[in-house]
Amino acid sequence: MIEVENLVKVFGSTRAVNGISFTVHDGEIYGLLGPNGSGKSTTMKILAGIIKPTSGKVLVNGLDVSKAPMKIKEIVGYVPETPVLYESLTPVEFFNLIGSIRGIPKDELEDRVNRFVEAFELKSYLHKYIGSLSFGTRQKISLISALLHDPEVLIMDESMNGLDPKSARILRELLLEFKAEGRNIVFSTHVLQLAEMICDRVGVIYNGEIIAEGTVEELKEFAHEENLEDVFLKLTESKDEIYSVVQALKESL
Ligand SMILES: Nc1ncnc2c1ncn2[C@@H]1O[C@H](COP(=O)(O)OP(=O)(O)O)[C@@H](O)[C@H]1O
Ligand SMILES: [Mg+2]
Repeated sequence: MIEVENLVKVFGSTRAVNGISFTVHDGEIYGLLGPNGSGKSTTMKILAGIIKPTSGKVLVNGLDVSKAPMKIKEIVGYVPETPVLYESLTPVEFFNLIGSIRGIPKDELEDRVNRFVEAFELKSYLHKYIGSLSFGTRQKISLISALLHDPEVLIMDESMNGLDPKSARILRELLLEFKAEGRNIVFSTHVLQLAEMICDRVGVIYNGEIIAEGTVEELKEFAHEENLEDVFLKLTESKDEIYSVVQALKESL
């Protein structure tokens, strides 16, 4: 279970996260949706123990992220927005490095790597330098490296970016499997149809604040809209603006 209470993160004069609270129960996929710059990545980095909050409280399976950042990293798998990889290693070398940092027994590591490599069709890239691989392939390597220690909690920041349709579907099925096993997943995406498909609940974050939260159905009712995209645009005050921008474009053509 993840409990976020009145979380604040300030960078200089920017209040990136401005007092947000939410809870993610076991076996739940929670979607963080919000326009660029609204504070999603900052929130997720705090949940993963990567950066410290300015104030507020975050408990992951009862552990305080500020007090036990190393322990948090053992139970959390974090997939950053932009893959952080070593260009001059091959995927196999990188997975072995992650395995040794994580203390994963060799047989187990090999077994897990093989399963993921097969699922994401990475076999032919295993011995090429990471620096030479495409964005989507790097994204897959980043994903796998976050899953190798079999984390109880998954924090995934726009992790479907760059994945081909088949890999995106495999990842989606994998997330549903993790959910069925009772793990927690926090997920950010701009692909609202995807959020609508897999999230049990979503929080709409805007200017560092959660401005609406609930199941997709609850949000549709709340905003009097028929799909999540319209809900999102209405709540983030973009709907009228988009209409006038498109009108202006039409008139100028
Ligand atoms: N390390 C940082 N230093 C200064 N400002 C930052 C830093 N990280 C994020 N910000 C600022 O915090 C705000 C929220 O950013 P972010 O959490 O990345 O949003 P999102 O992921 O929703 O696009 C933005 O205004 C961004 O410029
Ligand atoms: Mg982001």
